[in-house]
Amino acid sequence: MHKDIEKILVDEQSVLERTKELANQINSDYAHVDNIMIVSILKGAFMFTSDLVKRLNVPHIVDFMALSTYGAESKASGEVRVIMDLRHPVQNQHVLIVEDILDTGLTLQFLERILQTRNVASLKKCVLAQKEGKENNLINIDYLGFTIPDVWVVGCGLDYADKHRTLPYIGELKPSVYL
Ligand code: PRP
Repeated sequence: MHKDIEKILVDEQSVLERTKELANQINSDYAHVDNIMIVSILKGAFMFTSDLVKRLNVPHIVDFMALSTYGAESKASGEVRVIMDLRHPVQNQHVLIVEDILDTGLTLQFLERILQTRNVASLKKCVLAQKEGKENNLINIDYLGFTIPDVWVVGCGLDYADKHRTLPYIGELKPSVYL
């Protein structure tokens, strides 16, 4: 375990097993569609996306969007901005958003608003982890990996100041790292 990690919340094996289950569910639910447009949200979702799409056997295209907030204060006001937009048009497409974490829920709400204006055929969300005890439970997640405590988590794409994203597990960061 990395020295900055307090404890492992979800180990690597569990992440992979759950990801496989989600992929199976997606394969079954989308069995009838011509194509799924996978919209992966950078940076955080890149690892989960990679693990997930390797296990999809329904036709799909992976595209990326980079979103960012102006900082904690503006995030509280719901201010999110698009750093990099999708390469493909999504009109009439079955879009599946892939995210690493649902924290306040602002990022997903913002993204849903944008994509709905592009007249998609359908829009669903696949999220690796949802923080519990927050107002984000108003957001409906179609495919959810894990519910995790409201602590600072890293790994599987999640970062602290861009560090620790590539840890293969979801770990709680030691408070001494960020306090
Ligand atoms: C993180 C994470 C989600 C978002 C979730 O992204 O990857 O996209 O925050 O938080 P929310 O539910 O409170 O909106 P961040 O803005 O840190 O960028 P990153 O993915 O590049 O790390």
